[in-house]
Amino acid sequence: MLTQIKHLAQKLAPRLVEIRRHLHSHPELSGQEYQTAAYVAGVLSSSGLQVQEMVGKTGVVAELHGQGEDPRRLAIRTDLDALPIQEQTNLEFASRKPGIMHACGHDIHTTVGLGTAMILAQIADDLPGSHRFLFQPAEETAQGARWMIEDNVMTDVSAILSVHAFPSIMAGNIGIRHGVLTAAADDLEIIILGESGHGARPHEAIDAVWIAAQVITTLQQAISRTQNPLRPVVLTIGQIHGGRAPNVIADQVRLQGTVRSLHPDTHAELPAWIEKIVASVCQSYGARYEMNYRRGVPSVVNNPALTQLVEASALDAWGSDRIDILPEASLGAEDFALYLQHAPGMMFRLGVGKPQGPNYPLHHPKFEVDESAIITGVITLAYAAYQFWRQPICYPTHHLVSPSSQ
Ligand code: NI
Repeated sequence: MLTQIKHLAQKLAPRLVEIRRHLHSHPELSGQEYQTAAYVAGVLSSSGLQVQEMVGKTGVVAELHGQGEDPRRLAIRTDLDALPIQEQTNLEFASRKPGIMHACGHDIHTTVGLGTAMILAQIADDLPGSHRFLFQPAEETAQGARWMIEDNVMTDVSAILSVHAFPSIMAGNIGIRHGVLTAAADDLEIIILGESGHGARPHEAIDAVWIAAQVITTLQQAISRTQNPLRPVVLTIGQIHGGRAPNVIADQVRLQGTVRSLHPDTHAELPAWIEKIVASVCQSYGARYEMNYRRGVPSVVNNPALTQLVEASALDAWGSDRIDILPEASLGAEDFALYLQHAPGMMFRLGVGKPQGPNYPLHHPKFEVDESAIITGVITLAYAAYQFWRQPICYPTHHLVSPSSQ
């Protein structure tokens, strides 16, 4: 079957490159993937799949019914959206939309999802159970997975697989991460409330700008001195607003940031830990504060059995030289994590790096991929899906991050 899948993929290769280039030329922002969704739905329908549009707002779902008795359903998820970035590549199929670019490889993911669906549709007689292909919108804003789940795409799903492009892994290679893949990412807002005054008379005011500076500094120092260094925390204040004039002491400063962590215990205790520090600094200098901590997406934790399945399939397909076992998690976030609250899942990394380089990182205006990665991704995913049915996997219900901790 591996030979057959490879053969089908090679035959599809020119068409898949064409699809990818079309998607790359016509990027759309999160939640606005109307043309992308219509295009994807068209490709899926013409490949004989049963397609539903406008799922999770601008998402697409395709069903491939199994030909046997296996009651399980395997979902395969990819994402559709692009970023508000002005493309700076010289590609002939560069973005035709000013200020919008597929700089995170979602055009590759969508193409891999489509290629996998096309191949599985052709070998459907050998698939005893059902497949559901999820093309989700708005991954970049971490909204799309939630929208899709609210539209019940995870009903009757036994397991879910996904893929993300990675420019620091060479095209042709597959990155496998056991356990935690990405960070939990939360949003933080702190408002420091002082008292306004004349810039010349600080003793008659409570300077919110200075206290905000203390809060930021203390938080950063406290991470290094009070958090377990083996359980990383990254706290970035990316926006700061306050003050009215250079010679007027500010009565209010708003800090906004992102908080990343990998360990579920750390993740659980972060809001209280941050608030304690903010409160103690503010109290020392007579300021008041408001703090809003919003849970974003939890960590992607790869299921052990599914990780083994994808790793073994990739090994069969490519040999050990082309499998990168990733020793570290990423502090990036990925809303694929939300599906894992409904079924066990696994996301692998698809090498898209060009051998000649330079390989710019994700979200860079010069980000480019080696398109040979598409076939590597399709074969890996299609063969892992095929192998899924050969193995009556029992999933442990154990999740490192439980939904209740959100
Ligand atoms: Ni992405």
